[in-house]
Amino acid sequence: MTAVILALNESASLAASVAAKLGAEIGKIEIRRFPDEESYVRIESEVRGRDVIVLASLDRPDEKILQILYLAAAARDLGAVSVGLVAPYLAYMRQDTRFKPGEVVTSKHFAQLVSGWVDWLVTIDPHLHRRSSLGEIYSVPTQVLHAAPLVSEWIKENVANPILIGPDEESTQWVAAVAHDAGAPHVVLGKVRRGDRDVEVTVPEFEKWRGYVPVLVDDIISTARTMIETVGHLRRAGMAPPVCIGVHGIFAGNAYDQLQEAGAATVATTNTIPHISNRIDISEIIASGVRAIEAGKVTSR
Ligand code: R5P
Repeated sequence: MTAVILALNESASLAASVAAKLGAEIGKIEIRRFPDEESYVRIESEVRGRDVIVLASLDRPDEKILQILYLAAAARDLGAVSVGLVAPYLAYMRQDTRFKPGEVVTSKHFAQLVSGWVDWLVTIDPHLHRRSSLGEIYSVPTQVLHAAPLVSEWIKENVANPILIGPDEESTQWVAAVAHDAGAPHVVLGKVRRGDRDVEVTVPEFEKWRGYVPVLVDDIISTARTMIETVGHLRRAGMAPPVCIGVHGIFAGNAYDQLQEAGAATVATTNTIPHISNRIDISEIIASGVRAIEAGKVTSR
């Protein structure tokens, strides 16, 4: 029997693309809030005896996580054979250590929470920094997919003479992979974050890269402070207006406008999180990840 995809409203378009590629059905659900702000969740499609895929990006996770877990629970209660979660963007990965005494290490506890409700997890480029794989914190099978080949393709098709720039050491993994596939040079800058919106970026001498188009590549754009600082340095160094690429465009508050005002030529993201800047479609790699996990060919990194 074909699998059923249950998607939160905002992920409907991505879910439709993934369903078409998998030959899956989009299930009908109703999600709303009671007047007291508790969540109401109802699955209207038949899920008994079927594999269920809950598809929801986990940006702004606190608003959504209970509804996502209730969907999974309802599917199981109604007789689903398996319930997996496709979270194109996986939340709570950056608090992966106790930076200050007394802090909660959310990545670990969030992983335990999710692992208790679903049978598997598929995601794209989770922020693995101090941890080397999701298997360290998730107790269910996980399939990690990478947007780098698609980002490289987009750069090859849209940017002439690019120099790829990673804003910090953590971005080395994305930038090196993307630069390699795009056949472009790359540099990685130094970054010190002093607070949520207080970021300092150090840049090397850009003299030899004059004439190139700077392309900033990062996994996440949240407040955009990292990119805004970098764009400022590059502009002051006389470089061309940069292209800014984020795999996951969260854009907290008015971060998107601020990044454009800072002098970005173009801001491009993948559609892991629906946003006006989406230029790169990741539905095919999600479909391949679901196929792999259903076939038991799972990689946790
Ligand atoms: C951090 O380590 C990530 O790779 C990103 O650089 C960071 O999340 C970007 O955050 P923001 O847009 O708030 O500067």
